Amino acid sequence: MRNRARFAAHPMLIVFPLGLLVTAVVLDALHYVTGGHDFAVSGAYTTAAGVIGGSFAAMFGWVDWFSIPPGTRARRVGLLHGLINAAMLALFAVSWILRLNEGTWQPTGTSVILALVGLVLAVHGGWLGAELVERLGVGVDEDAGLDAASPLKHTARPSPRLSGT
Ligand code: HEM
Repeated sequence: MRNRARFAAHPMLIVFPLGLLVTAVVLDALHYVTGGHDFAVSGAYTTAAGVIGGSFAAMFGWVDWFSIPPGTRARRVGLLHGLINAAMLALFAVSWILRLNEGTWQPTGTSVILALVGLVLAVHGGWLGAELVERLGVGVDEDAGLDAASPLKHTARPSPRLSGT
């Protein structure tokens, strides 16, 4: 649980797909309100970027999940979190494919519904992700605390051989 680089990758990467996918839904809403075709095209490209970025972030999520000890609640919550987010990405991917078939990037009724359900799943999955970190302590350094030293500082631990015991 002390591998900082591994636990840092997933939380840093997930902000991009979350932001992109929410933006995609906003762009589609603007398309419906204004009728502007450019909003529809931007929404389609933003959805694609979100799905690609999310799949990349998810790979690191699975790597982190495998290092959670089996039989713990964190392992079960992590699995649920991973499956919900995988389903969320699949919904956005199908939503994008439906628009591709349109030929004009125009969102269809089904593609909008899939994206909205995906958004609900993203909120639920994000909630569980926060629970993993903030309540279950996954990826939290053993030395964490309000006055913990900077991770960049070399905090030498006394060697058992030199401690004189
Ligand atoms: C794009 C899809 C995903 C999103 C948006 C997402 C989102 C999140 C969020 C918001 C957190 C909390 C980070 C923090 O508060 O610092 C988190 C943590 C976590 N997620 Fe995901 N997640 C995704 C996919 C996955 C997948 C597929 C797995 C596989 C099981 C996974 C496993 C984990 C684990 C183990 C943690 C806690 C430790 C860590 O930060 O790595 N995630 N995730």
